[in-house]
Amino acid sequence: MKLYETLATDIAESIRNGVLKPGDRLPSIRHCSQSRRISASTVFQAYYQLEAQGLIRARDRSGYFVALGQTEILPEPEPSPSPMGEAISLDVSEHVFEVLESSLMRSVVPFGSAFPSPLLFPLARLGQVFASSVQKLDPWSSVDDMTPGSARLRRQIALRYLTDGLQVHTNDIVITNGALEALNLCLGAVTRPGDSVIVESPTFYAALQTLERLGLHAIEVATHPREGVELDAMENAIKRHRPQACWLMTNFQNPLGSLMPNAKKQALVELLTRYDIPLIEDDVFGELYFGANRPIPAKAFDTAGIVMHCSSFSKCLAPGYRIGWTAPGRYARKVGHLKLMTSLASSAPAQEAIGTYLEKGGYDKHLRRLRQTLSSQQSHFVRAIGEYFPAGSRATRPDGGYLLWVEMPPQVNAMEVHRYALSEGISTAPGPIFSAKQEFRNCLRLNYGHSWDARSEKALATLGRIVAALSN
Ligand SMILES: Cc1ncc(COP(=O)(O)O)c(C=O)c1O
Repeated sequence: MKLYETLATDIAESIRNGVLKPGDRLPSIRHCSQSRRISASTVFQAYYQLEAQGLIRARDRSGYFVALGQTEILPEPEPSPSPMGEAISLDVSEHVFEVLESSLMRSVVPFGSAFPSPLLFPLARLGQVFASSVQKLDPWSSVDDMTPGSARLRRQIALRYLTDGLQVHTNDIVITNGALEALNLCLGAVTRPGDSVIVESPTFYAALQTLERLGLHAIEVATHPREGVELDAMENAIKRHRPQACWLMTNFQNPLGSLMPNAKKQALVELLTRYDIPLIEDDVFGELYFGANRPIPAKAFDTAGIVMHCSSFSKCLAPGYRIGWTAPGRYARKVGHLKLMTSLASSAPAQEAIGTYLEKGGYDKHLRRLRQTLSSQQSHFVRAIGEYFPAGSRATRPDGGYLLWVEMPPQVNAMEVHRYALSEGISTAPGPIFSAKQEFRNCLRLNYGHSWDARSEKALATLGRIVAALSN
């Protein structure tokens, strides 16, 4: 990270965690440059960046201040009460498909989409690497890169684990068709139809759909909007239901955006190790952090091989290439066999291209830019929600990713909001699709992963008007 980026990240973090409050004056350029031992122009660069992100404002001759717009930020939602429910068999797919289809239309403002804008990725550069690496591709790669996958790519992934402080051997990584296949294979490897699986409440709808497809029951466990799944509630659920697996997102959970603190991740892994329950860890957003460092996965605390870590390049580098992976600990052999039995292998040219791109360098530079863009878009988005949504609304402000969760006044029905908004050309993801029992009826997941412009401002104003009308 460049010096100005480090300074901008530190200040943004202080604003986000409340150390710097709206209206607070930032240290003068001279003071900051002296105390940090960096040049005044570096401090200027950092302040310009924060200004462009809408986090600070310059006032004539008085210096820089934390933006007052931040005062309109809504409070965060309260943790949901523990469902403490039964193990539920699922029937969510139709609902989800209906909502998904509406968010995939290009003409619609994609607040309901699960994907960031494809324009945020170095697709031209990747295309060049793809073309040249495919030209040089060894004809035998279609055989050599068969599951567990390209050795070149697996080595690059193992190196990234190493940078994050995790020892994962190249041979323990299985390349998949996106993270979704990795998650499906892992779940299939450790369960049989009729088994129960712990998921967060709310959870990513694809987790519910996978459980539905495999004939599994969901045990939903209360999840804190900032710190992730509640461990006491989880232990109670384990004692009651004896689940065979647990599927969680520890970093920037979809849909809440929660980030589990390290101590909690460690306690989670210890708890599951004690009961010998495999943890399927969905970490697709781990690289999209806004703080100083990548949040480590729960897998970092795994000593027994129970954590099946899953991720992909779909959200941070190469959407559409469908390259993901899993490091499934002691289940690696079984997952590899399942992959061979379901889709045999992942695309050899796509694996080669991504492996070569990672080898050439430039990924971290791209990620830094991507994180800054997403963090800046979040600031605009959160400010606008505060401005346009009616009193009684709440919203999460995740420290990474591109999804946030809005809780509307209790009388507002999210399915109705979804339908009205769609008729105005705006997609949303209503709360009930994130729950086996179709709860969270007054909640919405919104996507801030698309460029902030007049169209998004207008769409959020319209959405706020719809919510306000339905709350009266
Ligand atoms: C939380 C989460 N996990 C997994 C996936 C699937 O990732 P991939 O596109 O790599 O299959 C998504 C995609 O939207 C997601 O949001």
